[in-house]
Formats: sequence, C-alpha cells, structure tokens
Amino acid sequence: MVNYECILLAAGEGQRAALGYNKVLYKINGKKELFRYSLDYFIKDELCKKIIMVISEKDKLYFINVFKTLKCNKIDFVIGGDTRGDSVKSGLKKVTSEYCIIHDSARPLIYKEDVYNLLNNAKETGGATLATKVYNTTCHIVDGYVDEYFSRSTLASIITPQCFRSEMLTVAYEEASKKGLTFTDDSSIFKACGNSVKLVFTDNISVKATTSYDIKLLEGILYAKDR
Ligand code: CTP
Ligand code: MG
Repeated sequence: MVNYECILLAAGEGQRAALGYNKVLYKINGKKELFRYSLDYFIKDELCKKIIMVISEKDKLYFINVFKTLKCNKIDFVIGGDTRGDSVKSGLKKVTSEYCIIHDSARPLIYKEDVYNLLNNAKETGGATLATKVYNTTCHIVDGYVDEYFSRSTLASIITPQCFRSEMLTVAYEEASKKGLTFTDDSSIFKACGNSVKLVFTDNISVKATTSYDIKLLEGILYAKDR
C-alpha cells in the first residue's frame, strides 16, 4: 500500500449553513469541531505522511491554536483561496508525495476501508473518487417541470475523499486555469483534462455539512458513533 499526503479543505465560509462563521469550526454536540473528525482520521492513518490543512486568513489563529494543542508533526497549513478550486491549488503546491488525497473537512464521516480502496484504485488511471449509488428518482429540470428522467443505474453521486497522482492533478489544474474552466470538485477537473476517473462505491454513510439541517443530522449520527 502506498503512502500519501492529504489536502484537507477548511477554507470555506459556510454561507449555506448560515452560522455567521465557518461551519467546520462548529462544535458538534458542544464538544469537538466538525473539522476535527476528518483531521483525527488522517492523524491516525499511518499511510498519511502529511496533512496540509487549507484554511482562511480569517480563521488562521483559531486553527493554529488547535494545532498547538494537538502536537502532531504531520500537520502543515496553507492559506486557501476564494473558491474551493483555488484552495486545492494552494494545497497542491505543498504536496511532495506521488499520491495525494483530497478531502472536504465538512465531511466528518470517513472510513479506513474507503481510503485504502481509493489508494488501490487510483493506481489504475491516476485518479479515483469515492461515490455512492443514487436511490432517488432523478430528473433534469426545465422551467420548474421535469424535462427528462435519468436511469438510476447509470448515475453516481460523487463525494470525497478523492485520490490522485499529484503530478497529474497539478497538470489538470494548470490546463483548467488556462482554459478558464471551473468545476465543483477535483475529479471533474481531472476528467475534463482527458484523464479517466475510477469510481469507488461505498455503502458507508457520508453527509456533507452544507445546511444547518445537515449539521443537526450529523450531530445525531456522531453522537451515536462517539458513544
Ligand atoms: N472550501 C475551501 N475553500 C473555499 C471554499 C470551500 O477550502 N474557498 C472547503 C470548505 O471548507 C469545505 C469544502 O471545501 O470543507 C466543501 O465546500 P462547501 O461545502 O461548499 O463549503 P463552503 O464553501 O464553506 O460552504 P458554502 O458554499 O455554503 O459557503
Ligand atoms: Mg462552497
């Protein structure tokens, strides 16, 4: 199994969660910040040799204080950018390993078997993403009406973590910048630049804290898990 470095994204503003501050700093059940769940995973995973936390200038002091208490020599940090893609680009500049894993710290549920499956699968094409099956009926919308239904068996919901050959992802970002292309995740940038993305399906539950409802849901799940 291959070693890797992790880019852990935490430089957003959390606008849709509407807390008035970055949602990843929210203390789940009054105890542990949201970002700490994935950070703790990568601290413990022995294949992870470096954690590059991407943070915003606004939250810098808060994070530095947390890092001090953790006393973990694997943690490094960098200031992110205005968009998620800009933050990934900042993180990539600090990557020195052949493979890197990119993860949204807004997703606290992370499992070793998924991370190791990703690492194994990324060797095939240089890029792999975790994905879940789609269980709801899904359609394309035009003007508030159903335009066309999709067959669920041909759909996947793409989540993080994702794993890439660091060099290939860096080149993909450079090409995307030149062409002025923007995307919501790294697998789509990787694919747009002519690479293949291997899908790694998981049955494990993954919830991204996007709205305040997601945060409530995560508090319930994590309360049950932490017991
Ligand atoms: N992120 C980041 N830098 C940005 C934007 C997002 O590092 N400029 C991170 C977030 O901290 C989060 C992850 O990328 O962990 C996924 O983004 P998202 O869920 O959209 O978080 P926010 O951008 O913070 O939320 P919103 O879009 O509602 O403002
Ligand atoms: Mg966002």
